[in-house]
Amino acid sequence: MSRIVLRDLTKSFGELPVVDPLSLSVQAGEFVSIIGPSGCGKTTLVRVIAGLEPATSGDVEVDGAPPRHARANKRVAMVPQQPGLLPWRTVRANARLLLDVNRAANPTDAVAPEALLDEVGLSGFLDRFPHELSGGMQQRVALVRALALHAPLLVMDEPFAALDEITRAEMRVLLNRLVEGKHVTVLFVTHSIAEAVALSDRVLVSSPRPASIIADIAIDLHRPRPTDVEDHPRFVELCANVRHALHRGMAL
Ligand SMILES: Nc1ncnc2c1ncn2[C@@H]1O[C@H](COP(=O)(O)OP(=O)(O)O)[C@@H](O)[C@H]1O
Ligand SMILES: [Mg+2]
Repeated sequence: MSRIVLRDLTKSFGELPVVDPLSLSVQAGEFVSIIGPSGCGKTTLVRVIAGLEPATSGDVEVDGAPPRHARANKRVAMVPQQPGLLPWRTVRANARLLLDVNRAANPTDAVAPEALLDEVGLSGFLDRFPHELSGGMQQRVALVRALALHAPLLVMDEPFAALDEITRAEMRVLLNRLVEGKHVTVLFVTHSIAEAVALSDRVLVSSPRPASIIADIAIDLHRPRPTDVEDHPRFVELCANVRHALHRGMAL
């Protein structure tokens, strides 16, 4: 489980400020969502934390070291918005992709992708190809591909954005089941309030660009999250809190 510390992080592209001085600390094992208006800098922020993009100023530490170390040591796994499966690889081979590519760097405790595929309900599809799967099934393979690395930090950038509402709701239940009790820290970018509240221990609300954290809302719902958590009055209340914070940010 990774611990993340940001101190006065800023990021600009040329003259364009994208992340304002931002300080944040994420505890080991926390599930933290970042929610904010489109274009506010969410992707940029998580790319800096994942070591894919240098910071302009300030400090970023993942487990006490610069993010590029975590990246080089395969301690961070990404789940992108589009599943990005290789069309010529079967489900099983796609799920193994990062393990195959990183065999040398990989620990022996990596989880067998077949067991994870079973957990996400794809054990009957191991030898199928991506074009034979629905969008939700493809995204489940992408999730397994990342989880199979057994990295202590999982960064997910709007992983369910391309899915229909019914499938998205299923994916929330599935993801909670997959990460609860696992030794993993999750940073989850979304623009869905219900998704953020259902999944997270904390929801960070960003202002419009340049991104700054205007609210840090603790999600005090029990774990494991019941599958009907979205019917609970506290869930509805927390969603309203997030929505109000977002609206306050837009009015600034
Ligand atoms: N590589 C880049 N070069 C220049 N500008 C960029 C780059 N990546 C993102 N931006 C700009 O940074 C801003 C924030 O983008 P992004 O982080 O993708 O926002 P979000 O994920 O919140 O929608 C946008 O104005 C975007 O045009
Ligand atoms: Mg984005």
